[in-house]
Amino acid sequence: MSGRLEGKTVLVTGAAGSIGQATAQRLAAEGARLMLADLESKPLEALCDAIAGKGGIRPEAFVYDASSNESSADLVDRTLTATERLDAVCNIAGIYAKARTTDVTDADWQRMLQINLSSVFVILRQAIPHLAKTGGCVVNTSSLAALEGHAYLAAYAVSKAGIVALTKSLAAEYASTGIRFNAVCPGAIRSSMSSVPTVPDADPDLAFRRTKLKGFDGGLGEPVDVAAAFAYLVSGDARYVSGSVLVIDGGQFLL
Ligand SMILES: NC(=O)c1ccc[n+]([C@@H]2O[C@H](COP(=O)([O-])OP(=O)(O)OC[C@H]3O[C@@H](n4cnc5c(N)ncnc54)[C@H](O)[C@@H]3O)[C@@H](O)[C@H]2O)c1
Repeated sequence: MSGRLEGKTVLVTGAAGSIGQATAQRLAAEGARLMLADLESKPLEALCDAIAGKGGIRPEAFVYDASSNESSADLVDRTLTATERLDAVCNIAGIYAKARTTDVTDADWQRMLQINLSSVFVILRQAIPHLAKTGGCVVNTSSLAALEGHAYLAAYAVSKAGIVALTKSLAAEYASTGIRFNAVCPGAIRSSMSSVPTVPDADPDLAFRRTKLKGFDGGLGEPVDVAAAFAYLVSGDARYVSGSVLVIDGGQFLL
């Protein structure tokens, strides 16, 4: 398995988070050179140290803020200053919040769409000319919430449904350039997001469905389960895969 991503330079956003860290470690283990980006600098630096300590190529770390389009565009410029080639972008940064729709303010709605969707659009608009030079690829992060109705998650679900539409639209628009665009669509993964409190008197149905999954503590997947999907979609093994949405949820979507 080692070496599948050798020679590839990959930008990973949200790299300080649970899924981002697992993905960075997996991509590095498979030989990728990484450009790691997040709002949080300390865990980012610790991750760079950990990857270098395991014998991987020491990643470059970039602090940026997805709540700003300027900062998101600038991230790609800074990445291209640090490396002469860009083979893949893994967009993982995101926020999550549960609330009754009548409690969601204009500012809450805008912030969710900005960080989870608009920033991704800006990063890709900036990165596409560079990915075209390498015949590169993009893996975005959607959510099961985008594919089925989840109570108290309207803003989050809309932002993640936008990611599905963006991924498929760009896959069609850029097919003739050789750039592939795919999305992962995780269900409930053990992370800081899985401990976000629900609203009072919430419908327990979704959590109940998860407990039916055999072999998974609380029905939760692990960040490494998503990381494996990122590694596959970035690799040449997925060379004939574009415009796909890969659901990683243990099958709960079907229950
Ligand atoms: N955990 C799950 O169950 C789950 C399910 C479906 C989809 N997802 C998606 O997976 C991705 C990663 O989530 P996670 O579970 O690892 O959560 P996480 O909170 O551990 O990671 C999210 C990362 O995004 C970064 N981030 C947040 N706001 C930012 C900003 N303004 N600018 C730059 N970076 C910012 C955070 O610092 C953090 O490192 C998210 O897009 C999330 O929506 C998670």
